[in-house]
Amino acid sequence: MNPTRADAAHPGPGQAPLLAVRGLAKAFGGVRAVDGVDFDLHAGELLALIGPNGAGKSTCFDMINGQRRPDAGRVLLAGTDIAGWPPRRIWRAGVGRTFQVAATYGSMTVAENVQMALISRERELFSVRRRASRLHREEAISLLDEVGLAGRADDPCGTLAYGDVKAVELAVALASRPALLLMDEPTAGMAPRERGALMALTRRLVVERGIGVLFTEHSMDVVFAHADRILVLARGRLVAQGAPQAIRKDPKVAEVYFGSGRLLGRGLAQPEGEGRQ
Ligand SMILES: Nc1ncnc2c1ncn2[C@@H]1O[C@H](COP(=O)(O)OP(=O)(O)OP(=O)(O)O)[C@@H](O)[C@H]1O
Ligand SMILES: [Mg+2]
Repeated sequence: MNPTRADAAHPGPGQAPLLAVRGLAKAFGGVRAVDGVDFDLHAGELLALIGPNGAGKSTCFDMINGQRRPDAGRVLLAGTDIAGWPPRRIWRAGVGRTFQVAATYGSMTVAENVQMALISRERELFSVRRRASRLHREEAISLLDEVGLAGRADDPCGTLAYGDVKAVELAVALASRPALLLMDEPTAGMAPRERGALMALTRRLVVERGIGVLFTEHSMDVVFAHADRILVLARGRLVAQGAPQAIRKDPKVAEVYFGSGRLLGRGLAQPEGEGRQ
């Protein structure tokens, strides 16, 4: 479906992973929400984390971005263990995120939203030497151009369609120049057409900027159409990981979804372009 994704999924031999998660674990009382999770994510890769409700996806995310401290395990970002660091420090180290419900300020213009993010970054990096806001404006427009919204720069964010608000949120996330972007259910609440557009935009950013993206997603259509690789989590453990074609055929994956009582998405039940075997 996407001509570039096969290349992105196979980084050169010996290339160190951008993110390496090892033995990650977190319990809430007696519930092992995340129970010894291991995976790698390479720069230029769009990796999906899926699983039934309560599988531990959000808890994994929260440990990678610092919102929750792991009970055990390592989160290696380009070789540095960031497990247990505070969120701001992890953000500074190059981990950006978008939220399930887009977090933009409707009363400000599209450009101002991105400028705010740029100012925030500058405060972090050059606390004394703040640059002129005009420069932020140019950089904001350039970021908006990357997400196809330069033409709406001076419109209030509140006037945008939801799909465009999500694109602004991406531009805001890019303002901190992340190496890794975590996207929590990026297409939640979107119409199917908007979903495709947002994921195509995400793919373009992955390819052009060489960032890595980890996203959680309940829409199987989105996952199977856009992910390079898929991690399948159930009751805190990874039960499968691999390319979409392999995950579709993996009986363990269907079992996880049947067992949970969730309906299978089309991506699992009716593989596109494949006869039943
Ligand atoms: N703050 C908390 N206190 C107690 N239990 C929690 C807490 N957060 C999560 N859990 C439990 O940990 C397990 C994993 O939850 P988590 O939210 O990570 O799952 P998820 O895969 O994100 O689910 P969903 O698809 O519904 O978002 C669940 O059993 C959940 O009830
Ligand atoms: Mg969740």
